[in-house]
Amino acid sequence: MLRIDIISVLPKLIESPFNGSIIKRAIEKKIVEIHFHDLKDYASNKRKQVDDYQFGGGPGMVMMIEPINKCIDSLKKNRDYREIIYMTPDAEILNQKIANKLSIEGNLIILCGHYKGVDQRVRDKLITMEISIGDYVLSGGELPAAVLCDSIIRLIPGVLGNETSALSDSFQDGMIAPPVYTRPANFGNMNVPEVLLSGNKAKIENWREEKALERTKKIRPNFFN
Ligand code: ADE
Repeated sequence: MLRIDIISVLPKLIESPFNGSIIKRAIEKKIVEIHFHDLKDYASNKRKQVDDYQFGGGPGMVMMIEPINKCIDSLKKNRDYREIIYMTPDAEILNQKIANKLSIEGNLIILCGHYKGVDQRVRDKLITMEISIGDYVLSGGELPAAVLCDSIIRLIPGVLGNETSALSDSFQDGMIAPPVYTRPANFGNMNVPEVLLSGNKAKIENWREEKALERTKKIRPNFFN
């Protein structure tokens, strides 16, 4: 079973995405285990302080190394972790390849950033991987952590009802998926492409490949670089 430990100053903010359909089912089926840790529980002073002013001056608070170190240490004492991931906008951007890799590798710790970020020594010494979910800044790493977990969990065998359905997702083969249709075959003057109604599997497959190529060229031309 894959275990993911999420460290945050606002664990409440991140719990709800894990109560939804696919992830909830994966947790119930005991395919994945998610644990939330409130960084404030690892603070060393009575005020439960986890952040402080930055050396050298400047606006914004910085997350301190001590509580983070204490929390990660206590987790590592009990089991091995494959990666200790820090969610931050100044990092490599998440893609399907990273999600695939993380879905098969082992237990993960995810640290959510806040304020102006974490003390650089956390990044230098405690973190093994840094991930951004895109070139925009959110108020904290909680939503990015939920995005990362969702992208990983749905890829674990047994999580999706039909195991092949993740394989036909966009990006799995470096392509955008072709368009899909369902009933009715005619809606006003908009008709479902004939070929999809033909029952000819080879023709349908060809059509889908063509459309995938067309859409990828248009939406993600950089995939062909
Ligand atoms: N924290 C704030 N913004 C973020 C982003 N874009 N990706 C990951 N973590 C973040």
